[in-house]
Amino acid sequence: MQEILLSFENYLLNNLPKSKSFHPYFEDALGDMLKAGGKRFRPMLLLSVIKSNKSLLISNSYPVALGLEMLHTYSLIHDDLPAMDNADLRRGFQTLHKKYDEVTAMLVGDALNTEAFNQIVSAPLHNDIKVELVKCLSINGGIEGMIIGQAIDCYFENKKLELNQLEFLHIHKTAKLIAASLKMGAIISEYDLETQEKLYNFGIDIGLLFQIQDDIIDETQSDEEAGKTTHNDESKNSFVNLLGLEGSINSANELAKKCENILNEFEEDLKDSLTELLSKYLYRHKN
Ligand code: IPE
Ligand code: IPE
Ligand code: MG
Ligand code: MG
Ligand code: MG
Repeated sequence: MQEILLSFENYLLNNLPKSKSFHPYFEDALGDMLKAGGKRFRPMLLLSVIKSNKSLLISNSYPVALGLEMLHTYSLIHDDLPAMDNADLRRGFQTLHKKYDEVTAMLVGDALNTEAFNQIVSAPLHNDIKVELVKCLSINGGIEGMIIGQAIDCYFENKKLELNQLEFLHIHKTAKLIAASLKMGAIISEYDLETQEKLYNFGIDIGLLFQIQDDIIDETQSDEEAGKTTHNDESKNSFVNLLGLEGSINSANELAKKCENILNEFEEDLKDSLTELLSKYLYRHKN
């Protein structure tokens, strides 16, 4: 898996947006946050599903993995804007609106959002598969997915949500894109619809766990440790604010256990491939 991650990272660095106009810095800003790093969790989810049964398609799928990472990176750039979470640090570097200006951060986000779909449709894969991929990413990253989650996250600052609303918020803002990453892997791998759905539902659980852990990180880590602005969830409907730190850790433990059980029910190749990736994520709240 480490080999695939390194090889994808290499692909990403060689395929950053290349256009050059007479704008003094916009094109530099376009690549900054992608180059800055990050865990590449969503690309790796996609690639580990493909590794389980169609490893010959891994390199043809790098543009799709890059598309996922571009859409995710755009969501982070916008998430950090003063109008949203107002954060100064991301992936160990100054956020774009700090380093440059807000207009640049907004437009780099917009550009990465649209370029994500260009990457996918340019991949050397069958057209009918690419239509399915675009559909999956646009639904889960868009109006019925990440966007409504982010809208609720920001609108309900300082307004306490019920537990079921809290779940709706976090499933939409974070879990759906993670679930889509697994499902898009299954689409490329041509797994049957039942397996696609199983992977998607598993991704919702993994995504929820991922966000609980992220909320724990906000509470327990410094900016330097996390590489991003922390102690920033004061006004949010975060798991820590609603369940407390202990309660959040307990919830994360329970959900991690549930995910382990589901993982063990997948057929052998999928189970092995996903376990290799997810073993370092399931209990990351304990590190
Ligand atoms: C952070 O995502 C935002 C959430 C949805 C929790 P990641 O923790 O995947 O951030 P990077 O990509 O590693 O920077
Ligand atoms: C962001 O959640 C989710 C996105 C869709 C980007 P957070 O606001 O908790 O993410 P961080 O903590 O800033 O990375
Ligand atoms: Mg946010
Ligand atoms: Mg944030
Ligand atoms: Mg957070």
